[in-house]
Amino acid sequence: ISDGFVEVLGHVYPRDAMTNVTTKILSKVGRGLHNQVHHPLWLLKERIKDHFYRSYLSRLGTPLFSAHDNLSPVVTVEQNFDSLLIPADHPSRKKGDNYYLNRTHMLRAHTSAHQRELVRAGCDAFLLAGDVYRRDEIDSSHYPVFHQMEGVRLFSKHELFAHVENGEDLALFERGGRRTPQKQESHTLEAVKLAELSLKQTLTHLVRHLFGEELEIRWVECYFPFTHPSFEMEVCFQGDWLEVLGCGVMEQELVNSAGAENKVGWAFGLGLERLAMVLFGIPDIRLFWSQDESFLQQFHLPTIHHPVTFQAFSKYPALFNDISFWLPAEGYTEHDFYEVVRSIGGDLVERVSLLDQFTHPKTKKVSQCFRIVYRHMERALTQGEVRVVHQAIEQAAEKELGVQGRY
Ligand code: PHE
Repeated sequence: ISDGFVEVLGHVYPRDAMTNVTTKILSKVGRGLHNQVHHPLWLLKERIKDHFYRSYLSRLGTPLFSAHDNLSPVVTVEQNFDSLLIPADHPSRKKGDNYYLNRTHMLRAHTSAHQRELVRAGCDAFLLAGDVYRRDEIDSSHYPVFHQMEGVRLFSKHELFAHVENGEDLALFERGGRRTPQKQESHTLEAVKLAELSLKQTLTHLVRHLFGEELEIRWVECYFPFTHPSFEMEVCFQGDWLEVLGCGVMEQELVNSAGAENKVGWAFGLGLERLAMVLFGIPDIRLFWSQDESFLQQFHLPTIHHPVTFQAFSKYPALFNDISFWLPAEGYTEHDFYEVVRSIGGDLVERVSLLDQFTHPKTKKVSQCFRIVYRHMERALTQGEVRVVHQAIEQAAEKELGVQGRY
């Protein structure tokens, strides 16, 4: 921020009375945690994308939803608010709650800011991940930058009623209708009910996929200027109901303004940190910004589907040592190796993770590579003392498990 201008991502914006971004906030713009491979927010984003890619296919068998994660967080005030029918005097526009570059531009406060442009570009079903910015309280679950995943799906009359008996006789729109708690004035009740069902089924399917079939969820009616009816989904976590997303049937005026007037749609926006904290057991939102390998390493998994729970770490530095070996033809399980590590390394070992597994194309022998993270809770370890332990583990593994070291 210099003199009369604010520079963000290579563009300059003249300062005016609305400017309130700080250098500190601007330093976060462009970090792109959701695009950093193996970062927990990336991991969650990839799991969600993968789920949508597999679950919803077009008639050609290709994924129905497109995924976008590189749209600039700098948007116009018009995109962030007006395009979503948020009135000029709406409290969410307050200078105190947002980061304005100036009167016309801001850091997006939600990924919904892109709904209209993507619909206008012809996307009928899309996911959109991005960093969003809000001036907010500071505690373990609030941070001025967080990440959201937006989802939108539009239906033509044919698509929405495809599986309904005598669907040809039904209509999406009606004239002279009234807005009620159930629906917008221009929608038929049958169209809204089917769109709402699709929305709720899609989101229920998603969270059950992420958290397991036992997860308890509930729907709470709420209000957004750009959807009606609108809902929040809450999930039961450790006995508390936790709000994880907002959603609803898109306001037809928005859909029309984006040039899709023959379709109805639903939209949702979910907070990635909130979900990741629950899913991975991450206790503090600031950890997502950590550059400490002890944090990041934990989300280095062989596949995105591998289960992972965050392990709190001590303030003393960790030492990483890897071990690879060929497995015996039979009679070996990973747990045997963990047992060897535990019996020799004891409490010096903070974590063991399977980094890689590989089958030799010719011999068909399988090799595994593990990373052992050594860390003492009360003092700093030296590489010298760790090496002694690590070599003892290598020897014991060969002797007790019949593996063949690849050192
Ligand atoms: N943008 C809303 C928020 O940030 C969430 C939302 C998205 C609600 C899409 C409805 C539809 O809270």
